[in-house]
Amino acid sequence: MIVCGISALSHDAAFSIVDSQSREILFASHSERFSRKKNDPELDPESVRIIKSYAPTLISWYERPFKKKTRQLFAGQLAEALSLGDLPARYLQKIGLGDIPLVYQDHHRSHAAAGYFTSPFDEACVVVIDAIGEWDTLSIWRADQLELTKVYSSQYPSSLGLLYSAFTERVGLKPNEEEFILMGMAAHGEPVHAQTIAGDFLEERDGVPHVKQNCHLGLGNYLSAADAFDLAASIQEVLAGCVRSVLEKARLLVPSDNLVYMGGVALNCAANAPAYRLFKNAWIMPNPGDAGSSLGAAALATNQKLKWENPYLGYEIAGSYPVEPVLAELQRSGICGVASGRAEFGPRALGNRSLLADPRGTRTKSQVNQIKKREPFRPLAPAILVEHAEQYFELPANASELPYMQLTVRCKDPENFPAIVHADGTARVQTVSWDDNPGFHELLTAFHETTGCPMLLNTSLNIKGQPLVNTRADAEEFTQNYGVTCW
Ligand SMILES: [Fe+2]
Repeated sequence: MIVCGISALSHDAAFSIVDSQSREILFASHSERFSRKKNDPELDPESVRIIKSYAPTLISWYERPFKKKTRQLFAGQLAEALSLGDLPARYLQKIGLGDIPLVYQDHHRSHAAAGYFTSPFDEACVVVIDAIGEWDTLSIWRADQLELTKVYSSQYPSSLGLLYSAFTERVGLKPNEEEFILMGMAAHGEPVHAQTIAGDFLEERDGVPHVKQNCHLGLGNYLSAADAFDLAASIQEVLAGCVRSVLEKARLLVPSDNLVYMGGVALNCAANAPAYRLFKNAWIMPNPGDAGSSLGAAALATNQKLKWENPYLGYEIAGSYPVEPVLAELQRSGICGVASGRAEFGPRALGNRSLLADPRGTRTKSQVNQIKKREPFRPLAPAILVEHAEQYFELPANASELPYMQLTVRCKDPENFPAIVHADGTARVQTVSWDDNPGFHELLTAFHETTGCPMLLNTSLNIKGQPLVNTRADAEEFTQNYGVTCW
């Protein structure tokens, strides 16, 4: 059976194709990569064409529309609650997928499944923290022998994700999209308002932080005189404390060595240290938000562990990894784009749709941020040969590999790598092994042999507010428009 999991009609539509017999993930992508509309909520015609080309016999939708409508009704979103035009069955009919049988999954169960069914664990404690979907906004699960049992949940309007999104909006950023910019701002401020925020917004229930105010409609002029960077630092500290408390509670409820952590909040890599400290093994699937739930919905329909090999599951640019020309361009100009192989499934470029640079240059960070039209304070990440990671970064004692940029860690030698160290001395490191990505590993090895430096700055090959480069044509356009050579 070929199953297509779909997450759409909210933000950042995505689809995942799974073969239930071989347990292979055949294809997974965000729709925006094809439509070229950032966070496109709909499946574009090319996504639909790809889905049809696999001839799926079942579509598994990542949430339950009527359950969501009851929450929307409660939230006063009357237009959404009463609209029938956004029902998945009607929508799929409209885009030409209406003839395929359709099943629905719970929103948080899809998150949990996307993590558990791709994880290396038979049994695990699964934690999901997100902003808003149906009713659940935080859930804790026991996963064992393919069974997911929910043991705790809290519901809208209490939502840690919504709280963080509300502060995203409060500092002038786009909620539900630019939370990662708020996270980057945090290192430039002081958490002077953290106690006030915790007092105003949080209370403890059953040992779990509960948001006592509905943040769905924003914060107005809350702390109107506060500096935006201090606000960022403050809410980041509050969120990090909440994540720690939730994970502590989860460990008590589901005693296990293994943690699976999912939901949009799991993308906040600066708050993820307790996942590695409290559990022996932690798995954060590289696409833990709603787009990744398309894979979770597909997994639930097959009810099998999937063969997770790597996150390179999207559109393929054929050909071998361009090691020699990229190396030559890095030596010539210090900056080079790569668009090769299959695109990453998830928000982060991990070597196949990446803008790479020498991390040692003092001007590199501002150069790259200028090319990408990003704010100058934005951090940039390193990708390092896994065998050298320990030497340059303070990795968690139980995680010598961090292949998907799930965690910020302290850099041991910040002076020599100014382009990849954030204001607080940390970096969102990607360790690269041959098994993760042979081509990228070969490039890093060649760069190391030539320069003595085992890492490269690795940021997504896109301009701020635009989707990542997907096809060869996108890469050529990138070179033409922004003057960066892409191989
Ligand atoms: Fe979600």
